[in-house]
Amino acid sequence: MARARSTYVCQNCGAVTQRWAGKCEACGEWNTIIEEAAALGVGGAAARKGLAGRPFALESLSGESKPVARIVTGISELDRVAGGGFVPGSATLIGGEPGIGKSTLLIQACAALARAGGRVVYVSGEESTEQIRLRAARLGLSSAPVQLAAQTLVEDIVATLGSGETPKFVILDSIQTLWCDAVESAPGSVSQVRAASQALIRYAKSSGAAVIMVGHVTKDGQIAGPRVVEHMVDAVMSFEGDGAHAFRVLRATKNRFGATDEIGVFEMTGAGLAEVANPSALFLAGRDVAAPGAAVFAGVEGARPVLVEIQALVAPSTLGTPRRAVVGWDSSRLAMVLAVLEAHGGLKLGQHDVYLNVAGGLRIGEPAADLAAAAALISSLVGVALPHEAVYFGEIALSGAVRAVGHAGLRLKEAAKLGFSKAFAPAGAAKDEDGDRVTPVASVASLVADIAAAGVASGGKKRR
Ligand code: TYD
Ligand code: MG
Repeated sequence: MARARSTYVCQNCGAVTQRWAGKCEACGEWNTIIEEAAALGVGGAAARKGLAGRPFALESLSGESKPVARIVTGISELDRVAGGGFVPGSATLIGGEPGIGKSTLLIQACAALARAGGRVVYVSGEESTEQIRLRAARLGLSSAPVQLAAQTLVEDIVATLGSGETPKFVILDSIQTLWCDAVESAPGSVSQVRAASQALIRYAKSSGAAVIMVGHVTKDGQIAGPRVVEHMVDAVMSFEGDGAHAFRVLRATKNRFGATDEIGVFEMTGAGLAEVANPSALFLAGRDVAAPGAAVFAGVEGARPVLVEIQALVAPSTLGTPRRAVVGWDSSRLAMVLAVLEAHGGLKLGQHDVYLNVAGGLRIGEPAADLAAAAALISSLVGVALPHEAVYFGEIALSGAVRAVGHAGLRLKEAAKLGFSKAFAPAGAAKDEDGDRVTPVASVASLVADIAAAGVASGGKKRR
């Protein structure tokens, strides 16, 4: 009989090699390759031993299922992103840059839940219990009956959680600091992160506790460690924001129990994270309505409309190759809009520096922002302020046509709610009840003509 062979499998990407190596050739990770007994396949070992699998009963789709009672933290922005509260027995991974406020958000959620009753456990591998207490005291949460621990050994943590009443909410801050005794590599290594998350996910499924794991992110914003952890958990959220602004956005990138494009908006204050129920008002605060180069974009994040200001500065360049700089938007998207404005709008931008900024630090991914960006660019170039009571949305095609985008009704409603009485939108966006509030824009050429005409009508001078 042939000797049972072993293969070497990368624990990060799953690549299989015939020989051990320090670095996986497939994904570039170090120390992720371990020896595994080669699988014999169905009918291999079992068939030789004369064992057969046991058949099990199959079920129909229409079976009885109890509606799950979700664990609602009371922090509605967090509950919304979780899909209306956390599902018992689920595992969630929350990623974000250091200092963005993950620990703050989670201790606030713990305190709110603990006050409502039930066992809530917060395990930190990063901070001592004194540090967590200090933060809780600063947030006025000291009296909440949260159970605290500064521990990192997964076996001990699972044993502790397993003794006594089943917790309903467990935080592990962070997954990179945990380690399993059974695994030999250092905490934070791929195999440790993988083993620790496996143990905790198994604990969540078997106990019914909602387990939340904090994950560090790498420089490019990915959650560090094996990508497989993202596949194993039920939900992945990322907490974003930039240091210069107080607001933070929580985004679901994966959710087995809810929508993935939902966002929660928070503001970092002296007393912790405050929910922002009306993000548009926050993003539009401090707007200079008389200045050229600013357009309000009626965007949609998840199921929620968000109005943001898009600012552009187009100025004659002294450089051989003019500068193009974008903050909060895709730079290739800007290049495309500029090319369309030149080709179909008759604008000459080749000798101009172009800067585009999404106010407030929000990152926009929607193509619907094209029209607002184009309006801001044209407005800055010709030196004519756009009507201050107008919003813009629509996707620009390479042909110069303005194409329809989803959720037009939602965008118009939010704009009306915040006092914007006009909207420039793709043809067909307006319903009868919108009356003449909505100006259809068919192409970038007509947008350019409109803005230039408004400048002439108001006596605006063309800036050079
Ligand atoms: P933290 O929750 O520790 O971030 P993370 O766990 O994501 O690393 O948040 C730390 C930052 O938040 C810190 O820079 C200070 C700021 N902060 C406030 O502005 N107000 C507060 O009430 C708290 C607790 C923190
Ligand atoms: Mg932290």
